[in-house]
Amino acid sequence: MRVAVLAGETDFEGWRQAARAFRQAGTAPGQAAFRVGGAGDGLFDEGPTPPPPDAAPFIVPKAFVDLAGDVVLHRSEDRFDLLYRLLWRLASEPDLMKIVSDIDVADALERARNVSRASHKMKAFVRFRRVEDAAGERWIAWFEPAHRVLERTAPFFVRRFTTLNWSILTRDGSASWDGEELTLGPPATRDMAPTEDEIEEFWKTYYASTFNPARLKTKAMQGEMPRRYWKNLPEAALIPELVAQAAVRTETMVAAPAPEPNARLAKTLSRINRDRSFDEGFVPSRLEELDQAVQACRRCPLWRDATQGVCGKGPGRASLMIVGEQPGDHEDLAGRPFVGPAGQVLDAALEDAGIDRDDVFVTNAVKHFKHEPRGKRRLHKTPSTTEVSACRWWLQAERRLVRPKVIVALGGTAALAVLERKVEVTKERGAGIDLADGAKAMITAHPAYLLRIPDAAARASERDRLVADLRAASAMLKLNS
Ligand code: URA
Repeated sequence: MRVAVLAGETDFEGWRQAARAFRQAGTAPGQAAFRVGGAGDGLFDEGPTPPPPDAAPFIVPKAFVDLAGDVVLHRSEDRFDLLYRLLWRLASEPDLMKIVSDIDVADALERARNVSRASHKMKAFVRFRRVEDAAGERWIAWFEPAHRVLERTAPFFVRRFTTLNWSILTRDGSASWDGEELTLGPPATRDMAPTEDEIEEFWKTYYASTFNPARLKTKAMQGEMPRRYWKNLPEAALIPELVAQAAVRTETMVAAPAPEPNARLAKTLSRINRDRSFDEGFVPSRLEELDQAVQACRRCPLWRDATQGVCGKGPGRASLMIVGEQPGDHEDLAGRPFVGPAGQVLDAALEDAGIDRDDVFVTNAVKHFKHEPRGKRRLHKTPSTTEVSACRWWLQAERRLVRPKVIVALGGTAALAVLERKVEVTKERGAGIDLADGAKAMITAHPAYLLRIPDAAARASERDRLVADLRAASAMLKLNS
């Protein structure tokens, strides 16, 4: 038996060199072995035989090299042997990699898929906790990847949390980013990472309040969030209890009477001239008129379950307009846009961007709150394209009156309303887009999206991006005036 000693569990280069030497020397798979670290097996530890001086160099398909790079990260003991068997067979079966039904090829492909899944899960389930010491603020996460994907996946976290100092600790090794350099370090133990921080309680409360028992699909949930990751997810501690309560909570919800329909709207309707908004020729000349007329809107059915229509608020002439999706629960009751939790995120981001909200006209693509009742709660529902189109009449009336030079669309629904086409926010975000009336539009994320990001560090980074976009919109304003 010939044994090659590799420098580490993921030493792909070491394996490649040794495997080449084995194959050139004619060492058959049963006679070649790979060990990680330390000495080999004493008597049998002969190392790869050096290839004869006249051994012909050989080339392997790129598909094999790529696949091998993934399979090496698999935790199975025999992964190096499997790869060497494939390498050996490629000498007489050059098209082997195309035969996906071949037992070795299928096995390698399956292991590569497992590795890719482990990397994906790592991106989704790493939870950083904040620590602060003399050196400043750091975000530390403990993670137990199913396969050895730390080094492979660390660049994702660099891109995502570029402005933070963070470390991810695992049993295989650690990765640290100091804002400039990614360093790979030795294995860690769980007790080296903090177990909780103050943000965690907030996130647990949020998770429990958004958990919708009527939509519970335990199998699907466990498929997406496998149990093996639960112990490092703060919100997972709540799951067994929430699942146990789900049936009871659903029954209570179903049994609860629907909320009072629209009492306030009925009152408003009796006060105003209903016919005006049905008159297509009606052209509001003041924002107050618009405010009143929207209460009689029947352009789509959303008025039925809303307390009232919520038009935009802000100066009658404003160079910056911000468009959200639709009023939420708080806005529906208050009759003003962005006064609830998303509004607080927006206010703080505007402040950080150096923009005074009082100078901005803040409105929504859709003027009525679309929701479905759940017991005492009203769950937000995204408005349909038809509803957004129907409501565009009101947004256009606001734009005619306010005449903004720059319009910031928060999220996909707002972008659809402003640009009159479907938009992928991630693709078009941040750029200035010319509008027919000479104004510029800019698309950014919706503040409510930030509230839904479970991981504190990810949330902070998204918030920075929102502030940067608002700053850019403000700069655009100066160029466009
Ligand atoms: N979300 C919105 O899009 N608009 C609001 O007014 C509040 C929350």
